[in-house]
Amino acid sequence: MRIDILTLFPETTGSVLHESIIGRACSKGLIDIRCVQIRDYTENKQKQVDDYPYGGGMGCVMMAQPLKSALDAVVTEDDENVRRRVIYMSPQGKPYDQNTAKRLASDYDHLVLVCGHYEGVDERFIEECVDEEISLGDFVLTGGEIAAMAVADSVCRLIPGVLSDESCFTEESHWNGMLEYPQYTRPEVWEGRRVPDVLLNGDHAKVDQWRHMQSIKRTKEKRPDLFEKLDLSSKEDQKLLKKLQKDEERIPLEGHTCFRKATNEDLETLRTLCARKYACTPSEETLQEWIRDGNCFVLTYDEAPAAYYAMTTDEKPFYDSITDGRWHFSGAYAVLEYIEVGDPYRGSGMAGLLMEHAAVAAEKMEKHSMRADVSKHNEPAKKLLGRYGYRFRGNLEDRGDRRQAFEKGLIVRN
Ligand SMILES: C[S@@+](CC[C@H](N)C(=O)[O-])C[C@H]1O[C@@H](n2cnc3c(N)ncnc32)[C@H](O)[C@@H]1O
Repeated sequence: MRIDILTLFPETTGSVLHESIIGRACSKGLIDIRCVQIRDYTENKQKQVDDYPYGGGMGCVMMAQPLKSALDAVVTEDDENVRRRVIYMSPQGKPYDQNTAKRLASDYDHLVLVCGHYEGVDERFIEECVDEEISLGDFVLTGGEIAAMAVADSVCRLIPGVLSDESCFTEESHWNGMLEYPQYTRPEVWEGRRVPDVLLNGDHAKVDQWRHMQSIKRTKEKRPDLFEKLDLSSKEDQKLLKKLQKDEERIPLEGHTCFRKATNEDLETLRTLCARKYACTPSEETLQEWIRDGNCFVLTYDEAPAAYYAMTTDEKPFYDSITDGRWHFSGAYAVLEYIEVGDPYRGSGMAGLLMEHAAVAAEKMEKHSMRADVSKHNEPAKKLLGRYGYRFRGNLEDRGDRRQAFEKGLIVRN
């Protein structure tokens, strides 16, 4: 791909395009970007490129002759077969998008990008020489250089070899009419915010599914106009859409949330917080023990207790009797004993906050993993654990009670 940019500011324009990824692609000869000084092609002594507009009015208009001569200089005789496109950067052009970038990259070998300045260019040059007008958006720039740089950059990164892999651009925003999923890099925890568990477990199918879901979600939230045009009729997409709708129906947590250790004064509230009683609901004694040992944490919402969890750090001998599988992480572990969200806050995403807080707290205590055991029949608890990165490891038996073992790896800091 060769790109000639006809401009009054070739140094500035060229310096930007000869940096970084595009600059390296130029050095390797994958693309050839040249910035041509229009002023060099004037036929007057003063090297004047513009003049007053006929009919009067503010500003000056760029003359057709220097533009045409500059164009002729880049369109040489011996390249007749080259698929060329002359494009005038203009606020009156078709708004630029990724599909146009794709088309320019695939259909042409040589682009000539003409940058106007002042009040624009003489209309006769456009009529005579321009194949297409492209606008960067519905606003007016001082000159066409920024628009030309945007077009050159976005086209060049689609040329084979410029980026390390095709997926670098096929998975990006706008390639399939969607926005890209959120991206994360090291460290795994920053300012108390963890990278989503699904990205850390090495399950590529799950990662792909999560990313696809996030793309749909983002497109819906940030660009409803693009979302409307998406074809989401496949069975998989319909399933994801249903899940998305469920998430959207969650009660928004707009109040102030805060974690603190539970005290005996919380006992009464914790007991009444959850109207439902399950077989696994901790006994009064156990609850008191967790509070006494500092293992029970309360999540307050606008200062009122809303949810809680308990996590212990003593090794559990009965975990050694795991059958039909094995624990995957050795070293010290913490045990997620219990997690409960108060009735008014169910479906608000508080369970996720509790799970995240427990993992960060265990990491601070330098635990290598978290373990949990749940009754074989407790489907909601198993689903919750799965959603927050716990994996089924095998079966356990605790005084006749058949339980299942779950485990989640933590970030080992030393
Ligand atoms: C101040 S503008 C001229 C605007 C022109 N008088 C009009 O109202 O349509 C000067 C030059 O900037 C460039 N330009 C301005 N806005 C642009 C946009 N949105 N997209 C691409 N190029 C733009 C064009 O090359 C244009 O000739």
